[in-house]
Amino acid sequence: MANNYPIGVFDSGVGGLTVVKELIRQLPSENIIYFGDTARVPYGIKSKETVIRFSIENILFLLKQNVKLICVACNTVSSVALPAIKNHFRVPIVGVLAPAAREAVYATQNKRIGVIGTPSTIKSRSYESQINELDSEIKVFSAATPLFVPLVEEGWVDTDVTREVAREYLGPLTNKNVDTLILGCTHYPLLREVIQGVLGKKVNLIDSAKQVAIEVKRMLACEDLLNDSAKKPRHKFYVSDNPEWFTNLAGRFLGHSVKDVSRAEVG
Ligand code: DGL
Repeated sequence: MANNYPIGVFDSGVGGLTVVKELIRQLPSENIIYFGDTARVPYGIKSKETVIRFSIENILFLLKQNVKLICVACNTVSSVALPAIKNHFRVPIVGVLAPAAREAVYATQNKRIGVIGTPSTIKSRSYESQINELDSEIKVFSAATPLFVPLVEEGWVDTDVTREVAREYLGPLTNKNVDTLILGCTHYPLLREVIQGVLGKKVNLIDSAKQVAIEVKRMLACEDLLNDSAKKPRHKFYVSDNPEWFTNLAGRFLGHSVKDVSRAEVG
């Protein structure tokens, strides 16, 4: 394993680029290989067995690219599949769940945390168990917010429709008096302002993308695998279908356009 080997990142589709954006910001010298499973997205409504199967296939694809660490950008995979498969691989695998849960436990003052995510993430209750493992007194209130994903992909991040959907979804959480909310899905950082607008400025929003990047950095430092080469890093993107669609949407998630997008077969 060499320090200049890439970090592998995968997600069900384009949303994981919010994690890549944070990785590039926090680890600017690292080479990154991204795989987005655009042929099989969305994962957030699929069964546990299916998400586990897809995740293993995605990990095997990244291992063939000689990655030194795998970052699971997808909250659904991190919640539903990762606990079952993580220990079957020798490569370090970092998911979004534990870093975001830790940060939320640290941030809450009143011990009332909200979690929003895809239906599969919420059904798994993984965030809840992770939080309660750290502090059993914390009350966790969860809500599935599936319409947020297509709204973000449609570019509707600042529209009345999106604000109305947010009020509908988040209303019950405001009544629970949460002081911290985990944005438990790749797409939700793009809705930060809308969500904050509904919940009010006092609620801490925990961005799982930001937290997982901190964890990746910590883990690479621990394993002495940080890349300190002065060469310009390579960011390479693979998708299982429709590279054009991915390329068109990528800028919105990443903050800049992507060029190096290829199609790859997995499974
Ligand atoms: N990437 C997924 C997640 O973070 C959202 C999209 C999907 O349902 O596949 O949970």
